[in-house]
Amino acid sequence: MPRLPPSLFWRASKEISPLAARLLPVCRDLQSAANELRWIREHVKSTQSPVPDGLRFWSLVEKRATGVPLQYVLGNQPFGDLDILCRRGVLIPRPETEAYTLHIANILTKSSSTPLNILDLCTGTGCIPLLLLHSLLASPSVAGPISLHGVDISPHAVRLARENLAHNIRLGLLPASIQGPNSSSLGSGNPSQNPNPYYTLKFTEQDIFSPSFLSSHFPSSQQPSTQPSTQSNPQPTSKDMPKNDLDLLISNPPYISSSAFTSRTTARAVRQHEPRLALVPDPISSLLTAYSRESSHSGGSSQKVYESCHPADVFYARLAEIVGMVRPKRVVMEVGGWGQAMRVVRGFVVDGWGSHNSFSTHNMSSGDGSGYESSESKSGSGSGSGSDGLLGSGRGQGEYEIEVWRDEPAGENDAKHWAVVDQREVAVRGRGLARVVYLVRRDCWEEDEGRKG
Ligand SMILES: C[S@@+](CC[C@H](N)C(=O)[O-])C[C@H]1O[C@@H](n2cnc3c(N)ncnc32)[C@H](O)[C@@H]1O
Repeated sequence: MPRLPPSLFWRASKEISPLAARLLPVCRDLQSAANELRWIREHVKSTQSPVPDGLRFWSLVEKRATGVPLQYVLGNQPFGDLDILCRRGVLIPRPETEAYTLHIANILTKSSSTPLNILDLCTGTGCIPLLLLHSLLASPSVAGPISLHGVDISPHAVRLARENLAHNIRLGLLPASIQGPNSSSLGSGNPSQNPNPYYTLKFTEQDIFSPSFLSSHFPSSQQPSTQPSTQSNPQPTSKDMPKNDLDLLISNPPYISSSAFTSRTTARAVRQHEPRLALVPDPISSLLTAYSRESSHSGGSSQKVYESCHPADVFYARLAEIVGMVRPKRVVMEVGGWGQAMRVVRGFVVDGWGSHNSFSTHNMSSGDGSGYESSESKSGSGSGSGSDGLLGSGRGQGEYEIEVWRDEPAGENDAKHWAVVDQREVAVRGRGLARVVYLVRRDCWEEDEGRKG
């Protein structure tokens, strides 16, 4: 990052305020420093405190000047039409996440499915299900009821997600809840917005790697037998989940490798202030050790799949396992760029992730055992794809279609390109960096494509 010239500090101080000069090192230009000063001032004016406004203003500017993200300083971040409370220890929602959340909401509003059942894994602030709820309730074509469920391992995140529901109800941005947002959150919307706006939105604390996760959420899924969890947290039971088909499984999991996190590829502000738990998957060895006493899950073939994937991709392997068991209609997985998108696509297309075979008999470590490199070398082999994979061997075959969405997936005539992975064409939609790997069950895909045509 280039050093700023002293003349810029002088201008900030003279043209805006001496406090703008304090913000320059983090804001990098005069306009951003002026904007942030204004937002901090507005925040102080609009919130009450026994501390005098002037002192609060100064101390918040000083906090920001040390590099603390603005969202933690102000305590919130706009996300679509919602206001999401932000606190240290829970990841700040990103604009890219907002973009694909609105995009999938748009797809869902056109889907004929009702009621709608949605599961968000690794929910953090709860921004994704909250925005989905907001968008779906605003659509006259969604005849409800809508069931949403956010899951996170972090108790801080779950607490904040519940607060965010209450906060947005208080602001009038979401319809009020009958039972109160911290209970089971049975909501009833404003009839003028939607003819049948009933919803349930709940947030629960759970580790998605727990062997009991699938059996507790989806008792009818074909999860290999598990023993009861020894976790101290109460586990959600099957009654917590909608009984019928899952319309959407969505997740923005931790996806940065430990080495990328410590290197300069991850911004310093992120490294220093945002929670590592939200960004970097635990080494798979510790994930598996944590559960080795609980279930055969970790000692068996799943372990091979996890161990053979790139360390940053462990959550996708788990999501694939869940997809294979539950067969949601649509799956949205946030990824961190093209390289990861292609690894995940290859996981499904080449290595047969999500097929029962991939977690029972598939031998991925046929090479040097070094893991993800072996997946690269499989180009053209088609080893894992096949009739019992989720994807089939070519476009138009198999149970699911797979796509990659870029940062701006929306916008029709949405720049559609193709990537070829193991001789299979994969649609790449939108503009910007690769942001989502999207799976859509063939029955829904045909419906979507037909509508477009
Ligand atoms: C990248 S953040 C995403 C947060 C939010 N969905 C968003 O988009 O802003 C990943 C989240 O995964 C949670 N997490 C990490 N490991 C988990 C696990 N094993 N099971 C469930 N959640 C986990 C973290 O606490 C964090 O909130």
